[in-house]
Amino acid sequence: MKTTALLRAPAKVNPILEVLGKRDDGYHELVLVFQAVGLYDELEFARGGEGVRLEIVESPSPSAFSQAPPGKLAADDSNLVMKAARLFLKEVLKGEADVLIRLKKRIPLAAGLGGGSSDAAATLMGLNLVFNALAPPQTLEALAARLGSDAPFFLTGGTALGTGRGEVITPLEPAPPMPLVLVKPAAGLSTPAVYQSGKALFSSGERARNFRSLLREKNLPKIAGSLFNSLQPAAFALMPEVEAIKQGLMRAGALGALVSGSGPTVFGIAPGKAAAEKIAAPMEGEGRWVFVTSTIGTGIEVIG
Ligand code: C5P
Repeated sequence: MKTTALLRAPAKVNPILEVLGKRDDGYHELVLVFQAVGLYDELEFARGGEGVRLEIVESPSPSAFSQAPPGKLAADDSNLVMKAARLFLKEVLKGEADVLIRLKKRIPLAAGLGGGSSDAAATLMGLNLVFNALAPPQTLEALAARLGSDAPFFLTGGTALGTGRGEVITPLEPAPPMPLVLVKPAAGLSTPAVYQSGKALFSSGERARNFRSLLREKNLPKIAGSLFNSLQPAAFALMPEVEAIKQGLMRAGALGALVSGSGPTVFGIAPGKAAAEKIAAPMEGEGRWVFVTSTIGTGIEVIG
């Protein structure tokens, strides 16, 4: 029986994010496209010790461009990994358990890249493995949805449509491989602040429908020309540097660029891998985090 496990939890971007309206429960009704990208946190699970313990491990810079650290993350109960572990113990194991979780953090915090949600979903998967709990995927999805609206996506990964508050996932035709440049200003943005800024543009869901046919065509320039995010004006208003980053990426040769999720990270789609490195170089400075990567066709993976 497996008593240790190593998982990698990817980040995401959203090529389409449409806010359809406000709901009675305080959330917003969304239609959005999730795309997993090749930037990962790593989570190691080892049974034993006393109670649930979380260690956050300093991680070396994964690329020449990402000099800035991901941000300061507390290893206490405010951490989504701890929340996920407590939820798993309560709802699946129905009791206490002893486990050490080591989190190697590379995805920047408060970035719009879904790092916390991906870690939370990976925690559910990892604990399910090391406790041999055999909770089915639907149970893990339902628990993930309680931890964050975009957490269920990471259990599926690749390219997927999200509806509801983003937690109802339908896999889509995989996007063609796309070289990406991710740029995040030094500061982060709070998701609730972006939604509540009064600057979100409401839309009809038509852009997501059109995007699905573009995915089937696998036409990179058309895909890059159709990016849309209802929350982008809100991110621009709260942090003007975000708009400057988007313009910078376009000037440097990106085929398209957009704020990811509630921001402030902007992703640019590059025409090729070498072009992505060229686009990234002038974006550095002012404490920014710059990362060159590409789309991936997977979600959370067990790697050890
Ligand atoms: O679900 P999650 O905890 O990630 O959401 C964080 C916050 O983002 C919510 O409390 C809410 O303010 C906002 N949100 C929203 N509509 C969504 C998703 C998130 O208003 N569909």
